[in-house]
Amino acid sequence: MPAFEHDIKDVSLAPQGKRRIDWAEREMPVLRLIRERFAAEEPLKGVRLVACAHITTETANLARALQAGGAEALLIASNPLSTQDDVAASVVSDYGIPVFAMKGESTDTYRRHVQTALDFLPDIIIDDGSDVVATLIKERPEHTRNIVGSTEETTTGIVRLRAMQTAGVLTFPSIAVNNALTKHFFDNRYGTGQSTLDGIIRATNILLAGRALVVVGYGWCGKGVALRARGMGANVVVTEIDPIKAVEAVMDGFRVMPIAAAAAIGDIFVTVTGNRHVIDREHFAVMKDGAIVCNSGHFDLELNLVALREMSEAPVQVRPFVEEYRTNGGRRINVLGEGRLINLTAAEGHPASVMDMSFANQALSVEYLVKNKGKLGPGVHLLPPEVDQEIASLKLRALGISIDTLTAEQLEYLSSWETGT
Ligand SMILES: NC(=O)c1ccc[n+]([C@@H]2O[C@H](COP(=O)([O-])OP(=O)(O)OC[C@H]3O[C@@H](n4cnc5c(N)ncnc54)[C@H](O)[C@@H]3O)[C@@H](O)[C@H]2O)c1
Repeated sequence: MPAFEHDIKDVSLAPQGKRRIDWAEREMPVLRLIRERFAAEEPLKGVRLVACAHITTETANLARALQAGGAEALLIASNPLSTQDDVAASVVSDYGIPVFAMKGESTDTYRRHVQTALDFLPDIIIDDGSDVVATLIKERPEHTRNIVGSTEETTTGIVRLRAMQTAGVLTFPSIAVNNALTKHFFDNRYGTGQSTLDGIIRATNILLAGRALVVVGYGWCGKGVALRARGMGANVVVTEIDPIKAVEAVMDGFRVMPIAAAAAIGDIFVTVTGNRHVIDREHFAVMKDGAIVCNSGHFDLELNLVALREMSEAPVQVRPFVEEYRTNGGRRINVLGEGRLINLTAAEGHPASVMDMSFANQALSVEYLVKNKGKLGPGVHLLPPEVDQEIASLKLRALGISIDTLTAEQLEYLSSWETGT
């Protein structure tokens, strides 16, 4: 078996990374409780685990919890631009967990790290976007029989897993962590809402008040971005392809129109659809001079940057994470973070308080897979609803908030049908 050392930028960054991991940990009380229980019970003893995730302070705390549970873990990045190099250094040197991730790694290096993850011969895969699982199935099908299961962090990954299931190639159970309510209600909405704007502002230092900000896709992430952008005074326009989501956006008080119309009036564009080329050549062609375009969906293909390159001079980097494309007509279009998740490229991803719940779901999903080894059929599974309830209760407790419980009379009423008008 090959040696699993690490491939990170600079191990001497570890002290700063450690301080930042500790800072995040203060905001992650639910994950801390799980880590403490894991340390006492070691439910993951002997498990080999690969986590393909954004290498951030919060992921470091997830790795600590998994390690406390007895797992032997290896981490790789789930995006070439989202790694926090100081965190990678601390995870390697303070916690002895191998990490293969560097901010700005090439696509080839990213793919090489996916291969390293598979060389580790994991029992369990924590995936974010399904690149590890898809590569395993495509390139090493003989190894799939060793897999106890996988967990999937994001909407796009689950879309891919369901496609694998339909194609009959997903031969092990995969937990759709994203679909837990304590994940997407909070992470996708409030996490992406805040951190996407944080990324745009850090990259550009632009004032949002009074600007026309176009949100492409009014799903969980889109709702959060639209809500928070309005809170900062932006004039929010929503584009959708789903009539229900479009009506919801209208009733939430936003202007809704096709992207072809929005393209001509937007100052700032944010895509959050999980779909391909939602901003395409013809939309770039009508944008205003100075338009700012970014993506906060999982993959960079939401923007057709190939088309933009074809219709422009070579882009010029005008600030970190801002590339200015001058189109044939002389208009300037500013693309942020190479079209990759702007909240992780130019900012630090979601705040720890929200990742506390997402990663509590991850840790408990891994435990669930181990406990139910051999009992879950192949395909996409949800975590049991009690786990969601438990995570929400722990979060409330950590926030010092108590709520009511049903009285005996109310319980009886809710389970009967005889009382009416
Ligand atoms: N930036 C982050 O940190 C972060 C966090 C969570 C999820 N994500 C990613 O963000 C993306 C969206 O996730 P979500 O949970 O909001 O998904 P979702 O399914 O709730 O919402 C996506 C929305 O996009 C709409 N859509 C699809 N094609 C469109 C098009 N051509 N034009 C306009 N709208 C279109 C869909 O109708 C849907 O309402 C996914 O790729 C997900 O993996 C990113």
